[in-house]
Amino acid sequence: MQTAPPTNPLQEGLSAQRTPEPCVVVIFGATGDLTHRKLVPALYNLAHEGQLPQSFAIVGFARRPKTHDQFRAELRDAVAHSSRFQPINPAVWESLAQAIFYHQSEFGDAQGYQKLNAFLQKLDAERGTAGHRLFYLATAPTEFIGIIEQLGANGLIHSQHAPTASQRIIVEKPFGHSLSTAEELNQALAGAFDERQIFRIDHYLGKETVQNIAALRFANEIFEPLWNQKYVDHIQITVAESLGVEGRGSYYDGSGALRDMVQNHMMQLLSLVAMEPPTTLDGPAIHDEKVKVLRAIRPMTPEQVQQFTVRGQYARGSMAGQAVPAYREEKNVSPDSRTETFVALKLFIENWRWFGVPFYLRHGKRLPKGVAEIAVQFKAPPAVLFGAESTTPLQPNALVMRIQPDEGIAIRMNAKVPGNALNLQPVKMDFRYGGSFGAHSPEAYERLLHDAIIGDSTLFTRRDEVERSWQIVDAIIEGWNSAPAPFPYESGIWGPPEADKFIERDGREWRRP
Ligand SMILES: NC(=O)c1ccc[n+]([C@@H]2O[C@H](COP(=O)([O-])OP(=O)(O)OC[C@H]3O[C@@H](n4cnc5c(N)ncnc54)[C@H](OP(=O)(O)O)[C@@H]3O)[C@@H](O)[C@H]2O)c1
Repeated sequence: MQTAPPTNPLQEGLSAQRTPEPCVVVIFGATGDLTHRKLVPALYNLAHEGQLPQSFAIVGFARRPKTHDQFRAELRDAVAHSSRFQPINPAVWESLAQAIFYHQSEFGDAQGYQKLNAFLQKLDAERGTAGHRLFYLATAPTEFIGIIEQLGANGLIHSQHAPTASQRIIVEKPFGHSLSTAEELNQALAGAFDERQIFRIDHYLGKETVQNIAALRFANEIFEPLWNQKYVDHIQITVAESLGVEGRGSYYDGSGALRDMVQNHMMQLLSLVAMEPPTTLDGPAIHDEKVKVLRAIRPMTPEQVQQFTVRGQYARGSMAGQAVPAYREEKNVSPDSRTETFVALKLFIENWRWFGVPFYLRHGKRLPKGVAEIAVQFKAPPAVLFGAESTTPLQPNALVMRIQPDEGIAIRMNAKVPGNALNLQPVKMDFRYGGSFGAHSPEAYERLLHDAIIGDSTLFTRRDEVERSWQIVDAIIEGWNSAPAPFPYESGIWGPPEADKFIERDGREWRRP
């Protein structure tokens, strides 16, 4: 039997099959935790899959002195620990290792960038990387603007040496601390790079289920007609973590749950689930639709903040039978901290499709389990037939997109229990990536690094998206400034009881994923 030829071979956007061009990835902060746990294992995985360019190199930039070989040995351990391919394949590693180099310098030292420039040009001559660069800012956010300015001032962008080569930059989270700091960072980026060269990372967008939201909605005819205020009662987006702040107290205490998770990851999930069908699957078309959703969310007034949000902070409790400390007892956290470790929000998207449909967002640390999902809860069917007869109340349909763990999609529907009585029970149709496709999904950073290497920004966030979501979040933070402290909740439960009351007032309840 003949198979049909692919209809869209080399298209950018959400489709696959793209050929990477030569490239040097320069990682600022190359001895840090992110580089070790995520970035270099992801690059190794790409090498394992044969998805790196032929002409390729990695240059690590950090301040401690070390030789290329010492750096390679550290990264080998990191890959052996964190790659999804175990054990490490010596041939793949050796081939990658000879393309890895270390550059020692201080972020603030102009001479260090000039030396880097000369070193990169030498690599171009030796390895055929032709001036193409991907700069990765894997450093503390306070360093971002300084590095961007040094890159511009020292001829590493738009260089004379290779005028037609691409220079791109990936910026890690957090992207700003407020609208004004995000604007400042965007301004610095715009002073050195064109928007098409800027890749603001949100690793949630690299997750398979998140990319599948568009496929589920727009490659299936059965869902889209129901995806609106006529049939959807409400949508719940949950990102629950069982972990506490895990040694990140000094960062987290100045940030909190809303900035750390809602402004970026959860707003991205919300915009993908709520957006209109884009005209094409390419980056700009998708960004245009996502930002329209964010613009349709009106920033809350201080009164609405009291009505539509709940904050919590974890107290002592027990996780998997182990006693755990309160948030205020964590290292580098102020003993009278008012930082929230739990947040629940109700947002409305004021457009034709979603008018009157609440979007409930819930995120917290030290909750009973680590899970992320989007649940579309449909309206209840009229209770005239089965609803009136059944001994158990009729459950409305729900479509649940599980992002982690166990990525997949489930639909809850009602079915008759076998027997003479007319009893109905909810049953689940469940699709699991692992079971259906038999392979592990690539890590989010793999997909995102690959996309940045080939210059596809579809799964990154655009300037206007970031700024609009900060506007929404800033309004909430302003409302909280004149509100009482977050409600305490015992570690190991689903947030403060006030969060339950908050949704129960609307006649609804939180899902227990
Ligand atoms: N870690 C994660 O899982 C994670 C997850 C998501 C996002 N992020 C984000 O990723 C970024 C990096 O986080 P991280 O946890 O990897 O940080 P980290 O472990 O603290 O690493 C910091 C890196 O920056 C280098 N550095 C610091 N000051 C320097 C200076 N003045 N000059 C030159 N190099 C300097 C350090 O080099 P030396 O070793 O030479 O001092 C080290 O390589 C942050 O923006 C963070 O928010 C991290």
